[in-house]
Amino acid sequence: MFYDRWRELEKLNEVYSFPGSSFLVIYGRRRVGKTALAREFLRDKPGLYFFVGEKDEALLLEEYSREIEEKLSHHLPPYVKPKFGSLEELVEFLLDFSQERKLVVVFDEFQNFRTVKPSFFSSLQRLWDEKKETSNLMLIAVGSYVGMIKRIFMDRKEPLFGRVDEWVKLKPFDFWTSFNFVRSLVDVSPKDFVELYSALGGMPRYLLYVPRYYRGDSLKTLKALFFDEFAPLREEGLNVLKLEFGRFYRAHFSILEAVSLGYVTPKEISNKTGMKLLTVGKYLSELTNHFEYLTREVPATENPLKTRKVAYRISDEFFNFWFRFVYHNYTTLEENPEKAFERFKAEFPAFVGKTYERIALDFVRKLDLGFEPERVGRWWRGGEEIDVLTYDRKNIILFEVKWKDLSLRDARKVLKSLERKAELLPLKGDYRFGIVARELKGKEELRKEGFLAFDLNDVVQYSLTPSKPREP
Ligand SMILES: Nc1ncnc2c1ncn2[C@@H]1O[C@H](COP(=O)(O)OP(=O)(O)OP(=O)(O)O)[C@@H](O)[C@H]1O
Ligand SMILES: [Mg+2]
Repeated sequence: MFYDRWRELEKLNEVYSFPGSSFLVIYGRRRVGKTALAREFLRDKPGLYFFVGEKDEALLLEEYSREIEEKLSHHLPPYVKPKFGSLEELVEFLLDFSQERKLVVVFDEFQNFRTVKPSFFSSLQRLWDEKKETSNLMLIAVGSYVGMIKRIFMDRKEPLFGRVDEWVKLKPFDFWTSFNFVRSLVDVSPKDFVELYSALGGMPRYLLYVPRYYRGDSLKTLKALFFDEFAPLREEGLNVLKLEFGRFYRAHFSILEAVSLGYVTPKEISNKTGMKLLTVGKYLSELTNHFEYLTREVPATENPLKTRKVAYRISDEFFNFWFRFVYHNYTTLEENPEKAFERFKAEFPAFVGKTYERIALDFVRKLDLGFEPERVGRWWRGGEEIDVLTYDRKNIILFEVKWKDLSLRDARKVLKSLERKAELLPLKGDYRFGIVARELKGKEELRKEGFLAFDLNDVVQYSLTPSKPREP
């Protein structure tokens, strides 16, 4: 069953409705659901799906001819058998065919043309420029390696530079969509789901393991998925990332590992990895801007363009977990999986706490606080930290996020310390204080006193209202 992605489908349908030809790229990391999205989009349209396997041009063309025969034969005269001597001939045929009627063509794993036939990119450019004005082709290139896809289409020296009309970056499901997706398949408590999500993130492919592996306990599930001898996700990070980084993967991996361990400033990363600060800076910028595996964060009161208070984090929950607990412990994992798992168990609660902070941040973004925030984000200075800070010119709200069950007394202590932290902020206005805990006893009482008090039950409430029903 295909789930959600209505915003992406809406975008694709909008482009489909444009007269004439368009060139669209769907990109996103491996396993995020690009193929599923492309196929769902094709389901009710005249279209062709071509997978670019790493094989001979002739073999690909044989496959593609079959697809054309199957899907378009009723439009072709009975004596015409589609047969192509080259990829160029195929593209020419598609462009000509679509002069008469709209046609969608998907090339999945488009970047593989690089190995199949490197010259194809420039012949595609030539044919496209020559014929797109008179045809109605919606050409969709799907690509898994974000870096490679950007190089093919965004590098000035590449033939296809500037040819793409629309980009759809496919991201993992957010927390709420992930929860709904999994709950449509198996019954998981919100608490267990937060723990699973902190390892699997919003990746449909990984979330689909939950119904198969979940036996009422998230730790056992994670053990089976990551730590056992045949654990299906144990090698996944390596498999997915090695090809992306090519021969420089070790340096990239070291940096990602350091970040996952909590070394988050360029200086800390340089100290941890032993790489020169200048080199680290180069890799950080590449991992952030080009590959999009890292996110650059600044304290919520700082100007992101000017400040030097920068911290990095791994954008993807799965990679964050994988580097932290699998890659970092590879040797132990090989020699003594039980020990690796014990170590993981001890450190996991704090790790989930960090994930919960990110979930809470998104939750606060969704809340109606009675004003339109200028910024919502984390804040830190020295050793002091505010988990969620949101403000406009008049209103300022500080939240503490706790992956713990709090009594009313605990909660009051937390609020006191937030009041103290407020003094550190360079903001003037009406201050309010809030908590997002796992469970919060007496939250009604706190609310009556003017505090913002939430727990996991409130957080997941958002998942009970689907973001948008699919249109018929
Ligand atoms: N929206 C969705 N609803 C339900 N299942 C989905 C959805 N998106 C993806 N999946 C499932 O997740 C798995 C991975 O998706 P898919 O193969 O489309 O990812 P991909 O981005 O093409 O990955 P790869 O880089 O490995 O080709 C598939 O089993 C697919 O059925
Ligand atoms: Mg795919």
